[in-house]
Amino acid sequence: MEKLLVRGGARLRGTVRVNGAKNAVLPILAATVLTPERCRVAGTPRLRDVEVMAAILRGLGVEVETQGDPAGEGRLITVQAREVSGCEIPDRLMREVRSSIFLMGPLLARVGRVKMSHPGGCAIGPRPIDYHLRGLERLGARITERHGYIYAEAPAGLRGAEVDLDFPSVGATENLIMAAVLAQGLTVIRNAAREPEIVDLEMFLNSMGARVRGAGTHTVRVEGVAGLHGAEHRVIPDRIEACTLMIAAVATRGEVTLKDVIPQHVQAVASKLREAGAVVEEEAGGLRVVCRCRPRAVDFKTLPYPGLPTDVQPQMMALMCGAEGTSVITETVFENRFTQAEELRRMGADIRVDGRTAVVRGVPRLSGATLEATDLRNCAALVIAGLVAEGSTVVERVEHLDRGYQDFELKLRRLGADLRRVRA
Ligand code: EPZ
Repeated sequence: MEKLLVRGGARLRGTVRVNGAKNAVLPILAATVLTPERCRVAGTPRLRDVEVMAAILRGLGVEVETQGDPAGEGRLITVQAREVSGCEIPDRLMREVRSSIFLMGPLLARVGRVKMSHPGGCAIGPRPIDYHLRGLERLGARITERHGYIYAEAPAGLRGAEVDLDFPSVGATENLIMAAVLAQGLTVIRNAAREPEIVDLEMFLNSMGARVRGAGTHTVRVEGVAGLHGAEHRVIPDRIEACTLMIAAVATRGEVTLKDVIPQHVQAVASKLREAGAVVEEEAGGLRVVCRCRPRAVDFKTLPYPGLPTDVQPQMMALMCGAEGTSVITETVFENRFTQAEELRRMGADIRVDGRTAVVRGVPRLSGATLEATDLRNCAALVIAGLVAEGSTVVERVEHLDRGYQDFELKLRRLGADLRRVRA
């Protein structure tokens, strides 16, 4: 286990480059099994989750090679699924990256059968996969579940169908698009998620010869084709990493310019930070975030894109702990995403949680404490709180950060933060 020692008080200043999006590269790597030809995915971040996805692909007989990260441009991953020899994903890898459930669609499309353990829940909620499984059945898959495993088969291939999602699930939308690209006929996915990572996936699939339309809207149409060829693609910047850095800049009353960020993708958080008193403005090829006063408390609720993302709610809560006034936070996406509240209270935060609502009364100053992270986003929230607290904060289980943030503490140190990682 590793921990981060953070000394509070420094204002973040300077320029930082945002890495490629974890939640874009993961489904795009899954999509590479749809063709026997070579694919090149550029601009990828060096993250634990990406390494695990590469290991899962190698376990399926897929060739995966990762090349350097010249001057922070991201790493190039070359993938070739000449043959997909396996159709089983090992439990331990499935548990580590539960979102690899969206390999089910492309594997069914390519080899016609899949066996994987049920991904199970995690700290933020039970994370069911019923939308994935019901949608794949609509496309003709036969799915059985026994002894904790899911068996999916489509020996005669998949066929296009109309699928209505009960909730705009990101993973289910991605899984069904990837299952549909080689199906016979037209698939229509309604109430689809509209996240930018889905638009990125559509761009990658269409560069492989797929016929996907409508990603980024509530209705996605996929016309099945006979086969796909290799492609090259650079993933979009990570909007969640960008938002996390923006929130840290405001919390420390600093002045930070983010490079390689797409302003439209972070619009909901930018407008909330402006409401809290920060200046957030586009600047040649980046975004400048400045806050010279104590942030004001703001109310917000998490929503599917383009609403405020659930993945930045913990970080926003950390910001509100030191804001002027009272903030009402509503978490509409996950059942248990206030796990950071208990840890923030140890620093003197005034937070009352009632189901999916948290009321945060800002306090003049948090005080450093020893904290334990439970997932990658609440870990980022605890680090942000440590940056502004009086004295020192220890964040334990900080390996959670490495799942979704490349060189997070290095980036913060370069912006003037006083923190370092030590082995627990
Ligand atoms: C993706 O997870 C992201 N992960 C999550 O980011 C993100 O928090 C989430 O979307 C919401 O934006 C990746 O893209 C790899 P969902 P996903 O399906 O696809 C319920 C991070 O920190 N649901 O949109 O698993 C589900 O329980 C991670 O980077 C069902 O009920 O999220 C949740 O309440 C955390 N049945 C809601 O929908 C299903 O079959 C949204 O989940 C699927 C989902």
